[in-house]
Amino acid sequence: MEWNLPKITFVQENGNEKVIDAENGLSLMEVARDNDLEIEGTCGGMALCASCQCYITSDHDLPDRSADEEAMLAEAFNVKKNSRLGCQIYLTPELDELS
Ligand code: FES
Repeated sequence: MEWNLPKITFVQENGNEKVIDAENGLSLMEVARDNDLEIEGTCGGMALCASCQCYITSDHDLPDRSADEEAMLAEAFNVKKNSRLGCQIYLTPELDELS
């Protein structure tokens, strides 16, 4: 069986870019945290803190925001149209080259 690892590009607030071959099934937040990128993930991925908010710049077809994600983003700061909770985006081969 062939495992295609999605290659994810993270651009941090300071402009530094890091490309990571992520593990399928992990969330964006987990991958960022495991690779020492600046992300808190305070609630551990429960969609309760928004400390994993990220801006998706690639045009991948992502799953719609859940009601919990919408509710959390409605209370968060600096929310943009492309804001997502990193803990709610689970990586699959289809998300290769996500940024
Ligand atoms: Fe708390 Fe994502 S880790 S909302």
